[in-house]
Amino acid sequence: MYTAQALRQGLKTQRFGNKIFTFDTIDSTNNCARALAGCWADEGTVIIAEQQTAGKGRLGRVWQANPNENLTFSIILRPTANPEQVNLLPLYVAVAVAQAIERTTSLKVECKWPNDLLVNNRKVAGILLEGSVKDNTLEYVVVGIGVNVNQVAFAHDLEGKATSLRLEGGKEVDRLVLFRELLSSLEKNYKTLSSSGFNTVLPLWLARSSMINRQISVSERGSVISGVVRGLSPEGGLILDSPQGAKTLFAGDVTILGIDVPAA
Ligand code: BTN
Repeated sequence: MYTAQALRQGLKTQRFGNKIFTFDTIDSTNNCARALAGCWADEGTVIIAEQQTAGKGRLGRVWQANPNENLTFSIILRPTANPEQVNLLPLYVAVAVAQAIERTTSLKVECKWPNDLLVNNRKVAGILLEGSVKDNTLEYVVVGIGVNVNQVAFAHDLEGKATSLRLEGGKEVDRLVLFRELLSSLEKNYKTLSSSGFNTVLPLWLARSSMINRQISVSERGSVISGVVRGLSPEGGLILDSPQGAKTLFAGDVTILGIDVPAA
């Protein structure tokens, strides 16, 4: 297990990672981060664990990750975002994580809406944001990040869907180096969000996505909608040309059906 000292060594950030809490085993780093964020923890505080007994994925799923092979951590943010900008935060995190992976490996990382990162069409990292709103203002956001780093075998139900940096790159990745790169990238992109506006993230995310003009289906809470992706709305929603007309979606589970449909 990593110590906070080893994780911080060589870290070039100003605020992110100033406080790092490490756990061998925890239920979920997001749960811990939320508890800390609800009382006193500073922005940039990190909670990292080798093993989660109840790692959480999006849409109520479980996040599975072997201990000693991956990165599972959460970071506390206190952004001054208005409610319309909240859906841009996952896109910012996705871009930052993609950049960090690319700087550490020679892999090309793609963004899949809303917060998956793919290498060669398989998932290498997932992001789970959980926030708290008080008096109509965003009190904090916990950004949970799981990266499949050196894991080479996945559960049966993830076969063909999940992969790791090691599997795709053919060599082991130093988790410490990747962790530092992730924090640097998250902080750098966060500063840009704060200084130049939240919409600066849209072109960066779009440049990393191959979803535009593709036929997809999105399932959310039991209902499925199909259509062709035409872009992102200024608030980070997915714009879909569907048989029922143009729709902007803000949540859901996307399956890319793989057919290119040129713009009319
Ligand atoms: C997803 O792709 O569904 C999101 C996965 C997010 C997993 C990370 S691992 C660290 C943090 N703690 C959690 O319980 N979940 C996130």
